Amino acid sequence: MKAIEIRNKYLNFFKNHGHNVIPSAPLIPENDPSVLFTTAGMQPLVPYLLGEKHPAGTRLTDYQKCVRTNDIDEVGDNRHLTYFEMLGNWSLGDYFKEESIQMSFDFLTKELGISKEKLSVTCFAGDDDCPRDEISANCWKKAGILEENIYFYGKDNNWWIAGEEGPCGPDTEMFLDTGKEPCGPNCDPSCDCGKYVEIWNNVFMEYFKDKNGYSKLKQRNVDTGLGLERMAMLLQGKETPFDTELFYPVMKKLEELQKVDIIESRRIIAEHLRSSMMIIADGGRPSNIDRGYVLRRLIRRMIRHLNKLQIDLKELSTLIDINVQNLKEMYPELETNEQTIKDVIIEEKDKFVKTLNHGEREFEKEIKRLGENKKIPGEVVFKLYDTYGFPPEVTSELAKENGYEIDLKEFEELFKKHQEKSRLGAEVKFKGGLADQNEKTISYHTATHLLHQALRTVLGEHVKQCGSNITEERLRFDFTHPQKMTKEEIKEVEDLVNEEIKKDLKVTCEEMSYEDAKKSGAIGLFTDKYGDRVKVYSIGNFSKEICGGPHVTHTGDMGTFKIKKEESSSSGVRRIKAVLIK
Ligand code: SER
Repeated sequence: MKAIEIRNKYLNFFKNHGHNVIPSAPLIPENDPSVLFTTAGMQPLVPYLLGEKHPAGTRLTDYQKCVRTNDIDEVGDNRHLTYFEMLGNWSLGDYFKEESIQMSFDFLTKELGISKEKLSVTCFAGDDDCPRDEISANCWKKAGILEENIYFYGKDNNWWIAGEEGPCGPDTEMFLDTGKEPCGPNCDPSCDCGKYVEIWNNVFMEYFKDKNGYSKLKQRNVDTGLGLERMAMLLQGKETPFDTELFYPVMKKLEELQKVDIIESRRIIAEHLRSSMMIIADGGRPSNIDRGYVLRRLIRRMIRHLNKLQIDLKELSTLIDINVQNLKEMYPELETNEQTIKDVIIEEKDKFVKTLNHGEREFEKEIKRLGENKKIPGEVVFKLYDTYGFPPEVTSELAKENGYEIDLKEFEELFKKHQEKSRLGAEVKFKGGLADQNEKTISYHTATHLLHQALRTVLGEHVKQCGSNITEERLRFDFTHPQKMTKEEIKEVEDLVNEEIKKDLKVTCEEMSYEDAKKSGAIGLFTDKYGDRVKVYSIGNFSKEICGGPHVTHTGDMGTFKIKKEESSSSGVRRIKAVLIK
């Protein structure tokens, strides 16, 4: 079964079980500096798991584009991916363990045709924070899982939380027995020898963890995640995701083009190419910090491996074409953004080729200086990175090829210091989504808050910001609303914003804990990072919003607000472009 068929079956199955299909959020969480990329289907849904009402109801399903960057260096083996698609279904205070487990069982056995004998499941063994999950185990038994295939583990395996704090709970995981020989007498689903492969994870999210420990959430939720590439691989009886139709065309082309045969390099190229394309299609661009640096690393590592295979870098354009053709049905955004994707990757390639030539010469010099010493000091690795833009992973690979090691620890310490500095810079940049802060962009930022509140007053409380982008010329604002706004509604929103501007309202800022901010009724962007102190900006008594600022001090001088365009952004999301005329 092809990946796209699995996706369609999944969404249809849950639709038939009363779920609304919601669109994938972008890979780059807009205006959210706390995370680099969307890493799980639940991430954009955190506010709703905490009790906000979701406009699409209490049963949701989607496919979510995800990037996880902690495994970049593992890519090249037979399973790690940086980009992947997660299929998910959610109950927001609706069904709980029994129905969730029955649906998972039915989907796996009836829709995907997996025999129940091949399925094992794991449940939470219980501890002081949360009791043993006998309920889930019984639900599995009732659904049809063999008793000997039900396992219990502790928090290490059967507890799910994103990071240190946030909504969390015990989970139950499903494993497919690949039929391989057990690696020993103790081989079970917790073992990663490859006999049991995890295919789906249902989290029973009814707790919230913060510095003080666990508390119960307002509602009992279910959050599930099924990795599409892995499922496709298993159902197709393939050894790796690279053998599925998702990667196969690029892998095959690489085999044709290569002069040296290295399978790991082909996988790295195919994987990093797809990830880079997806990130660029969602607006990511290479740079030296945070998200941009991840993208830069992906593109650069891909190029290093194209070089290793002695493939002419001009072929990048062909490889991009192949991926667009192969993946456009699943991700139409690849076709819409094809030219941008090419431009960005090729420009980055040109830069990197220069860096490589330069850096390799410097590397040679440094090696000569070392003499007999076979360990390259972290300081040298850092200098190559910082002064010549030569990526540490490349230094490390080159070092290995030449029989050297690098002092990774020392390098990492220096790198951390450097990153802290960059992060401070990045925060200023991402806060409020403002790349440049000047009088004009600051006015637009305040106008965005007025618009947000005005939309909620005119259209209703279901309006939620899903993104915003500001330039010196205009603001762009995306929000949830099921239909096109009428002319009258647009006029009403404009008038309301202009009235508030004319009142010359004072803009004030207070710092408080996230919880207090929510209690005070502040609206805003909700990230999966809580417990921190947040800033709340109030505009008179009209608007109150969590935000990093900056804002005008009084609304009086902002100019006249005019909505230029109201259009659809994606399903259930509208986009407004507006200007301030002075
Ligand atoms: N949040 C869980 C995961 O990422 C289930 O969706 O696995």
